[in-house]
Amino acid sequence: MTRVQTTPDELDASVGAVFANLRELALDDGYPRFTALSAGAHLVDLGGAATAVLTIAPAARSREHPADSHLVGLTITDRGRLSDRQVDDVYACVEALPFTAHEIRRLAPQLPLTRGLAADVDGRPLRGLALFVVAHLVTDLVVQLETLVELGADPRRITVVKKEYAYRHRRRVESHLRARGVAVFDTAHVADALVDHCRRAAGGCLALDDGGYVLPTLLREHPELVPRFRGVVEQTMSGIFRLEPFDDLPLPVFPVAQSEVKRTIEPRWVADRAVRTIVDLLAEEKLEGQPALVVGYGRIGEQIADVLRDRRMRVAVHDDDALRLLAAHERGYATSGDLPSLLRAHRPRLVVGGTGRTSLGSVHFGLLPPGCQLASVSSRDTEFDLTALRELALRVEPVADIGTRYHLPRGPVTVLADGYPVNFHRSDSMSNRCSDLTVAAVTCGACVLARPDHGLADGVDLDRANAALAAAGLVERYYELYRARVDDPLPDQARWDTGFGRTA
Ligand SMILES: NC(=O)c1ccc[n+]([C@@H]2O[C@H](COP(=O)([O-])OP(=O)(O)OC[C@H]3O[C@@H](n4cnc5c(N)ncnc54)[C@H](O)[C@@H]3O)[C@@H](O)[C@H]2O)c1
Repeated sequence: MTRVQTTPDELDASVGAVFANLRELALDDGYPRFTALSAGAHLVDLGGAATAVLTIAPAARSREHPADSHLVGLTITDRGRLSDRQVDDVYACVEALPFTAHEIRRLAPQLPLTRGLAADVDGRPLRGLALFVVAHLVTDLVVQLETLVELGADPRRITVVKKEYAYRHRRRVESHLRARGVAVFDTAHVADALVDHCRRAAGGCLALDDGGYVLPTLLREHPELVPRFRGVVEQTMSGIFRLEPFDDLPLPVFPVAQSEVKRTIEPRWVADRAVRTIVDLLAEEKLEGQPALVVGYGRIGEQIADVLRDRRMRVAVHDDDALRLLAAHERGYATSGDLPSLLRAHRPRLVVGGTGRTSLGSVHFGLLPPGCQLASVSSRDTEFDLTALRELALRVEPVADIGTRYHLPRGPVTVLADGYPVNFHRSDSMSNRCSDLTVAAVTCGACVLARPDHGLADGVDLDRANAALAAAGLVERYYELYRARVDDPLPDQARWDTGFGRTA
């Protein structure tokens, strides 16, 4: 069942989009065929003696279903000769509904800072540039795409490489991108995506990376394509780490990941969502008073430790950097620079890894107490050595909607969200109003690199990136949007309603 928010005149378009998705499956010659049963119901003959009923009906109003919500549902009433795979594909057709115009109009005001860039940046700096974007398939991407287009980018010359996490609306976001003419690839095919992108690009290219996918792939697999790129905006620390093996980077990298804007504000939001997701996934556990261990006391790990302590867990911290370890100690956490000893002494019920490297390997897994839960907040699924964990396990089983359980000789250990960052598990991570700051910084970075006189040196140029973001005034604007207004207690509509199109 997929929820769409529509106006009455868009209902037919939503039904038509499901029809189109079903047709693309090409299940059987001449099928599917649709017969209207009533205003909101269609019988779908899928061929091969399989039938389904498609319904679209107003949802009862609730927190989960705000005004104008309709539920689009598909039920296979007879699977006939459909394979399990085909059954999954048929159901996916409903999950892959593009966003309605009504929904997009509602999303836009959730990112007023990003939307403001379309109105404020001089000219259309991205005109003529082909954007190669690595991104989370979350709803802020829909608004960012429209902003990039208003800033001059041609959607047919945009490539999106989708990260593989279990985002709540990933199929809908992907459908939206495809409907706008954007080419979509997955992270296993970055090299192919780069070749295809450069073939479609008429002029120069610019990369908006999230996790160090672009430049390492260009340098290792397609160095001949490097001159096509003006530069790279990198928005996450793991992407910065992945550039470390290269001595001389031939392009400017605009490191939003390391910028003051991102690193000062965002970690608390990440930590808050990550811990909320962990608590939801472990709803049947009692966490208060239980031992938790945070590995990696960096920007995010520091906040995770605080949020876990706020939830009354007994928190210990390990970091391989002496200064960070001291910082954790001074904040009152149990600490040790020797991870195996800490695992033995603290016996954590929950381990949260936020190093951005691989922090737990085979030497550590044998020391985990039975029933321990592992959660990562780092990008990708490399925080825990899952290959080693699998090799140590007597048995491995999926735990529906939670992750994977590894039955080790000492007892079971569960890896939440299969080792991917928990804050993205079946979620958009933080709210769009929070992600707006980073999305705006990345978009701003792209506009800076688009200018021939951007002034950034080749390599990671943090000082100039910080200066450019400061000059753009993002922090001041964000503060202005959300600061307390003691003299103006009622919400100021003008601050919130910046939809698509140029507004104040
Ligand atoms: N989940 C999200 O939404 C999200 C958002 C932003 C960044 N990230 C990712 O989270 C990770 C951490 O980001 P950060 O900004 O906190 O980075 P950071 O550099 O501030 O912190 C990393 C910490 O880990 C420590 N460390 C590194 N390797 C270690 C090891 N093997 N053992 C113990 N400690 C080790 C470092 O000393 C440092 O203190 C990165 O992968 C980043 O890309 C995730």
